[in-house]
Amino acid sequence: MAERTSIDTILHESRIFPPPADFEQRIGGSYVTSLEAYRAMHRRSIEDPEGYWGEAARAFHWFRPWDRVLEWSLPDAKWFAGGRTNLCFNCVDRQVQGGHGEAPALIWEGEPASPSGYEIRRLTYAELMREVCRCANALKAMGVRRGDIVTIYMGMVPELAVAVLACARIGAPHSVIFGGFSAQAIADRVQDAQSRTIITCDGAWRRGHLVPLKANVDEGAAIAGGVTNVLVLRRCGNDVRMTPGRDRWWHEFVDDQPTDCPCEPMESEDMLFLLYTSGSTGKPKGIMHTTGGYMVYTAHTARTVFNLRPDRAQVFWCTADVGWVTGHSYIIYGVLPNRVPTLMYEGAPNFPEPDRFWDIVERHRVTQFYTAPTAIRAFMKWGDAWPRKHDLSSLIVLGSVGEPINPEAWMWYRETIGGGRCPIVDTWWQTETGGHMITPLPGATPTVPGSCTLPFFGVDAAIVDESGAELPHGKGGLLAIRRPWPGMLRGIHGDRERFIQTYFSRIPGMYFAGDGAHRDERGYFWILGRVDDVINVSGHRLGTMEVESALVSHPAVVEAAVVGMPHDIKGTGIAAFVTLEPHFAPSDDLRADLAKHVAKEIGAIAKPDVIRFTDALPKTRSGKIMRRLLRDVAAGADTGQDMTTLEDLSVLARLREGEE
Ligand code: WT7
Repeated sequence: MAERTSIDTILHESRIFPPPADFEQRIGGSYVTSLEAYRAMHRRSIEDPEGYWGEAARAFHWFRPWDRVLEWSLPDAKWFAGGRTNLCFNCVDRQVQGGHGEAPALIWEGEPASPSGYEIRRLTYAELMREVCRCANALKAMGVRRGDIVTIYMGMVPELAVAVLACARIGAPHSVIFGGFSAQAIADRVQDAQSRTIITCDGAWRRGHLVPLKANVDEGAAIAGGVTNVLVLRRCGNDVRMTPGRDRWWHEFVDDQPTDCPCEPMESEDMLFLLYTSGSTGKPKGIMHTTGGYMVYTAHTARTVFNLRPDRAQVFWCTADVGWVTGHSYIIYGVLPNRVPTLMYEGAPNFPEPDRFWDIVERHRVTQFYTAPTAIRAFMKWGDAWPRKHDLSSLIVLGSVGEPINPEAWMWYRETIGGGRCPIVDTWWQTETGGHMITPLPGATPTVPGSCTLPFFGVDAAIVDESGAELPHGKGGLLAIRRPWPGMLRGIHGDRERFIQTYFSRIPGMYFAGDGAHRDERGYFWILGRVDDVINVSGHRLGTMEVESALVSHPAVVEAAVVGMPHDIKGTGIAAFVTLEPHFAPSDDLRADLAKHVAKEIGAIAKPDVIRFTDALPKTRSGKIMRRLLRDVAAGADTGQDMTTLEDLSVLARLREGEE
């Protein structure tokens, strides 16, 4: 069992690692060089957020300057109101106009291995601009107008970045759906966004297997209705059905388009994208991000936290999928404005062998590497021999994101991957925050394994109780943000009430993140995990109710309760307790069928790790499912075995009554 972040871990963690002595020289000068400098800058940024962010925003191109840096009327923030800009312009055109058209923008590596090696593509800013303009013109020719939401469901290919940037260029907000989601999940999102245009691929490569993306889109579009245009990139060459009048091939339609297309001057508060994420109730919610604030926030955090320097030969690699916010912010939008090449890898970390990542780091001389604890734990399990085969000396900064990192994995990352000479930045943030919120700065912050340390500039983070009162260091409570920041979400698409309820109602006057946390005597933050019904599986967010509804929609299931359970690699695994219709009997076949059903309803990431059949779910007298009891039972469970009898559960339930 992996160590978990617990109060016990925090109390016993005394290792502290100052930034390595040669960091300054290796990185070529860091932006913030000491903890004292950080503290002084943080204080100033909190006293005068408008001054701080106004200055940060001046590093970008604006068609029209803003009238006011911030207008804030809880829960609505307007950043750089009156200003007009275009994020695609700031990612691409600006570099070309600044004389850097021939500098590398995007380095891509495909998954499949061939006798001649791997497929690699490199795009300069000038090339990227041409591709983006063609795609933007194609979208316009298909009838996409400013404000129309474009759905993107693609594998990790360069054209995914091109499609995203093309949408930003013409002011059509994108809604990227992770390629691991099912047809039903596509349908839910397309319907909620009322999106009529989908960009997809014939298929995607994943660990040597083909994922039939276009077939999923066909099925999803049939369920959702209203889809009038599908643009299909040929990646894998698998057979697909093209619907005449609706579907077009990228190579036939996009490649013929003119290579110039002006950037639409967008209002700072125009929507840039929607990204669906799971909440504690109901269907996933469409998190809305807007243009100016998100642009400034992601690029400024990327620059500072990874110490991006265009004047040094850096290669930045974030291993996330663009389908998650990490990929939006730290593969595309935050990196390109900093003129450091961003690396995109198509496939799995262990294809064809468990050293694929280290092979990529070595061959491309990656300098900043950003991944999730779940991946680090998998690498630990596969053994040190794989990274040892490679020269990882190019690495300077290592990042972690998505879930609490256990100190054991942190130390392994530091020693085995970083050779003891790379600061680790454990970055806490969320889909809703747009960019990093609590994180070390690599040249400044002494790090402690398992702690995400201190708030970023302009972030007023605190541990509070339900009334909003700040708790003294050492006491666990709710993680709250007390003031607006430029990257914050602007709403949930089509659901104002849920926006207010979820984020601004639990703690009066503050943004509630959904996490429990604790500060140690240094003031460092330790994230304890979600305090709502959201679970974090391999750094991916799922609502327990979402998985429950998927289970209940199976004909055999009467009732289902889903809880998180400790998992060696995933951090949190999914345990499902299920009661069956009388004419269904528990069996391994049924168990497999239920898992398949969940994968079909949501996606493979939502498949329960353990499914237990029971005669009835333990409930309190008032009828509430005793989730804490189920969590305890799941935590002590051997995988896959049924409860001995329901009696055990009901006895436990009686013992626990009143505790929940
Ligand atoms: C939830 C947000 C932000 C990109 C990936 C996940 C957890 C995220 C950390 C971290 C501890 C973390 C939180 C948060 N989380 N980063 N460094 N340490 N926990 O984005 O899907 O919106 O999930 O991930 O629980 O609330 P997301």
